[in-house]
Amino acid sequence: MAIREILHYPDPLLKKKSVPVTVFDQHLTQLAQDMVETMYDAPGVGLAAPQVGELLRLIVLDCSAADEPADLIIAVNPEIVAAQGESYEEEGCLSVPGFCTLVKRHQEVTLRYRDTDGQRHERHADGLLAIGIQHEIDHLDGILFVDRLSPLKRSIFKKKYLKMLKEQEAEHEA
Ligand code: NI
Repeated sequence: MAIREILHYPDPLLKKKSVPVTVFDQHLTQLAQDMVETMYDAPGVGLAAPQVGELLRLIVLDCSAADEPADLIIAVNPEIVAAQGESYEEEGCLSVPGFCTLVKRHQEVTLRYRDTDGQRHERHADGLLAIGIQHEIDHLDGILFVDRLSPLKRSIFKKKYLKMLKEQEAEHEA
């Protein structure tokens, strides 16, 4: 197991579309385990393979509350097969550190996926887990949560964020 480096916005890899997994081998299991370790270490509630530089359709999630048992989901080739309702909750992302904003999502989703052995699973989710599933699958399509904002809000975000990055760079150089 190893902790991987998490790519940050505006890394161009985060805009790429990931390809479906076709080989269920040791490499896949290893990558999934590394992603789980990286997510818990961050700490975060979800991570998608492109965030660690692998353009494969693989996500990991654990949206359990601190006082609940762990609820780790490792989903290969995840797909939302049903969705309903609307939610509007604050989201953040390990690839966009220091920024949170309200995002419109479905309230409930049904997720279909394979595990790292290739076995099929289906899971119904609502609340935080439903939001997490939609957020992580977006990563596989090269979409960040800030891409879901209105054009005006997105341009404000971009300006603020790139300014923050520049200031951080300047601090490092000073
Ligand atoms: Ni994210």
